Amino acid sequence: MMDKKTIRNQMKKTLSGLSKPLYEDYSYKISKTLFEEQEWKSANVIGITISRPPEVDTYQIIRKAWESGKKVVVPKCYPKDRQLSFRTLTEFSQLETVYYGLYEPKLDKTTEIHIAEIDLLIVPGLAYTKEGYRLGFGGGYYDRFLSHFQGQTLSLAFGSQIVEKLPTEDYDIPVSKIITNTEVINSSWRNQ
Ligand SMILES: Nc1ncnc2c1ncn2[C@@H]1O[C@H](COP(=O)(O)OP(=O)(O)OP(=O)(O)O)[C@@H](O)[C@H]1O
Ligand SMILES: [Mg+2]
Repeated sequence: MMDKKTIRNQMKKTLSGLSKPLYEDYSYKISKTLFEEQEWKSANVIGITISRPPEVDTYQIIRKAWESGKKVVVPKCYPKDRQLSFRTLTEFSQLETVYYGLYEPKLDKTTEIHIAEIDLLIVPGLAYTKEGYRLGFGGGYYDRFLSHFQGQTLSLAFGSQIVEKLPTEDYDIPVSKIITNTEVINSSWRNQ
């Protein structure tokens, strides 16, 4: 099996070939599917990243959450110990650029929430297996966070991000569901 670094590079290359019109169509389709899911409907507090292309667009999901009266919390990374904390976002102007063009909540404009308050966590990644195993961007931030997260988990992916196999390790915690532009994968059923 290929190592994580090779798969990451390959996937980034594949995704960079996705045209803007298709990126928009697929992202729109994925978000519409998400809005029909029970996990979405019943969640009051949604943990979600601020997407950066070629990740599935999350801006339209955040707007929809606000319109539906849901609370949106977004991650702030702490690189020293590779921890994440989630902070309430009520408007996009509360974001600032940190490294590599990633947007994060401004500390003086947002407040931190406790992990137990998050009902549904949309977990980012580069590649996934149908069993919900995930290859992230390499920081281990979400692996660490998931190890003490008790709520629902779900990932959003383009069809090309679903792969047969991924290197997995003891600390890997699969997500329960993956929504792609072509299907909804119930990973937790597959793992039973
Ligand atoms: N629960 C954990 N506790 C401590 N270290 C961990 C944990 N999970 C992962 N790590 C460490 O984090 C590093 C990166 O892990 P990995 O390559 O799986 O990242 P990733 O899944 O791509 O990133 P992310 O979780 O941010 O999406 C590894 O060195 C791994 O040992
Ligand atoms: Mg990992």
